[in-house]
Amino acid sequence: MSTPTNEFLHTTVLLHEAVDALVIDPDGTYVDGTYGRGGHSRLILERLSEKGRLLAIDRDPQAIAAATSGATRVSDPRFSIHHTSFGQMLPTLAALGVTQVDGLLLDLGVSSPQIDDPSAGSASASTGRWTCAWTPPVAKALRSFLLAQTSATLRR
Ligand SMILES: C[S@@+](CC[C@H](N)C(=O)[O-])C[C@H]1O[C@@H](n2cnc3c(N)ncnc32)[C@H](O)[C@@H]1O
Repeated sequence: MSTPTNEFLHTTVLLHEAVDALVIDPDGTYVDGTYGRGGHSRLILERLSEKGRLLAIDRDPQAIAAATSGATRVSDPRFSIHHTSFGQMLPTLAALGVTQVDGLLLDLGVSSPQIDDPSAGSASASTGRWTCAWTPPVAKALRSFLLAQTSATLRR
């Protein structure tokens, strides 16, 4: 019998360093494109004011389950999580009416639960169970995102 998802632990790397560098506007809108078990997301929420907003993304259904149910659920009106790839970030954000963000975090390591449980991280059907740190999708997502941000800035 497999262990329930939420009992797995993930140790977040560069937690304070990454969030310190990211959140410069407490009222801003931020994206965590690799939610995992929410280590970075929780600290980002601590740094945001009531006006701030955090949109989280993960392609692993178990990450979504961890964020939305049980003891690890994130119950915060400033937070929402979306089951998709960060490569789909722009249409996902557009569908939510978000056209500009103040910062984006991508934690491109391996999530500990995906090591502990070989069936986890199944979103990567074509390449096995490891879903993190694919250079081409990362580059594509970042390029699209930065181009869109640049265009939006230039249009203002
Ligand atoms: C290192 S973990 C993130 C850990 C997280 N920062 C934390 O503190 O709990 C990486 C996560 O990225 C997710 N991931 C990998 N490729 C992805 C993609 N293309 N789109 C969205 N999520 C992805 C994995 O499912 C995994 O949950």
